[in-house]
Amino acid sequence: MDNLLEKIKNKTAKVSVIGLGYVGLPLSMEFCKSGFTVIGIDVDNRKIDTLKQGESYVQDVKREEVLSFIKNGKFIPTNDFSLLKDADTVSICVPTPLRKTRDPDISYIVSAASEIKKYLHKGQLIVLESTTYPGTTDEVLLPELKSTGLKVGVDFYLAFSPERVDPGNKKYHTKNTPKIIGGVTADCTKTAKCLYEQAIDIVIPVSSTRSAEMVKLLENTFRAVNIGLVNETAIMCDRLGINVWEVIDAAATKPFGFMPFYPGPGLGGHCIPIDPLYLSWKLKTLNYTARFIELASEINTSMPLYVVSKIADALNEQKKSVNGARILILGVAYKKDVSDVRESPAIDVIKYLKNKGADVSFNDPYVDSIHEIDDIKRVELNEDVLNRADCIVIVTDHSKFDYGWIVKNSKLIVDTRNAAKGVKEGREKIVKL
Ligand SMILES: NC(=O)c1ccc[n+]([C@@H]2O[C@H](COP(=O)([O-])OP(=O)(O)OC[C@H]3O[C@@H](n4cnc5c(N)ncnc54)[C@H](O)[C@@H]3O)[C@@H](O)[C@H]2O)c1
Repeated sequence: MDNLLEKIKNKTAKVSVIGLGYVGLPLSMEFCKSGFTVIGIDVDNRKIDTLKQGESYVQDVKREEVLSFIKNGKFIPTNDFSLLKDADTVSICVPTPLRKTRDPDISYIVSAASEIKKYLHKGQLIVLESTTYPGTTDEVLLPELKSTGLKVGVDFYLAFSPERVDPGNKKYHTKNTPKIIGGVTADCTKTAKCLYEQAIDIVIPVSSTRSAEMVKLLENTFRAVNIGLVNETAIMCDRLGINVWEVIDAAATKPFGFMPFYPGPGLGGHCIPIDPLYLSWKLKTLNYTARFIELASEINTSMPLYVVSKIADALNEQKKSVNGARILILGVAYKKDVSDVRESPAIDVIKYLKNKGADVSFNDPYVDSIHEIDDIKRVELNEDVLNRADCIVIVTDHSKFDYGWIVKNSKLIVDTRNAAKGVKEGREKIVKL
């Protein structure tokens, strides 16, 4: 272990990252910036080619960074797993989606593990970063790696360290977001802590891989449940004829014991709608129902339909039906100022509207097309396009939209994010969630 610690401290350790997506690419850049040579492995050849040309496909990673580390040979993108035989550390950042049945799909972790196993050697550190259910590191990765005959904590080191990056966040990014580490043994924690301390400002060890796995799920369940609560509050306020946005802003003036969450068209992204379901799935195997998670998920997944009912009511007020209405969706990314449409509630809103016969188009400054939906047109924003729409639906509150101009040139707006709150003129045209 001392040899590995020494190599990590003097930056001669060869670091590798498996999976170069929203998580793995920024992490690779941080390791490069702290002085390591990084082998970045991905199965997507287009990504590898793009990186080799010094380009970035992740919004938070600057092209100049990639280019400079490619040029000086510090970053080696590849699809060749055999380079792992020279790697001292391996960080796994592969996807952990849900299956169609909404059960965890850990097949990407399993497949990465079987590649790592082929090249596992003495003095190597393996860290799983993908979000997953408590027990994955111990029950899935460890047996696979141990089957090589190498001993954990002695010959190789294994830890879990959840990735907490918040894409698009201007203040917190990979380096200044504290990192949790839980190893299989004390020496596993020590080596993983030593590695991440070189690149991340604050590293916090916990007692086990299971605790580290649970930390991430608590954080994301906390968000999912609070968003579920505030979404239901929005529905209740609507029935009561109360402005939910005013209520939240007023409640948020309390300097303690309240943290504002805001309602919206539903959950999106690769984390908040999915991660809590990993936890509830695991609990089901232990005959326990994670009630808060199930309830929050039920409320949050019903929000796109609620938005559609708001649109139908707003059109109805104008003696129009959804069937045949020209509806323009503004913002299809899952949250403001990012280009990621994974699990975006906009997809469900659009599908429901199209099923009801609406003529739907969209504009998003960050998104050119939506693969999940056939036959949806992206339109450029101009006064004519706004004027012709029977209803504009603000699904994602990107900062680039000029809300005053949008309201001025539209007939009817359903604003699911209170994005047009600062607009003074034409407020009578706005229907809020
Ligand atoms: N995106 C986020 O904001 C975020 C934040 C925190 C945690 N996470 C978690 O981090 C993990 C990765 O998420 P992401 O958003 O970076 O996903 P992503 O889809 O952007 O990237 C994953 C990458 O892994 C590659 N890959 C898939 N299987 C592979 C394999 N067997 N070997 C090598 N490469 C493989 C894919 O081609 C892809 O480039 C997930 O578990 C996710 O839940 C994501």
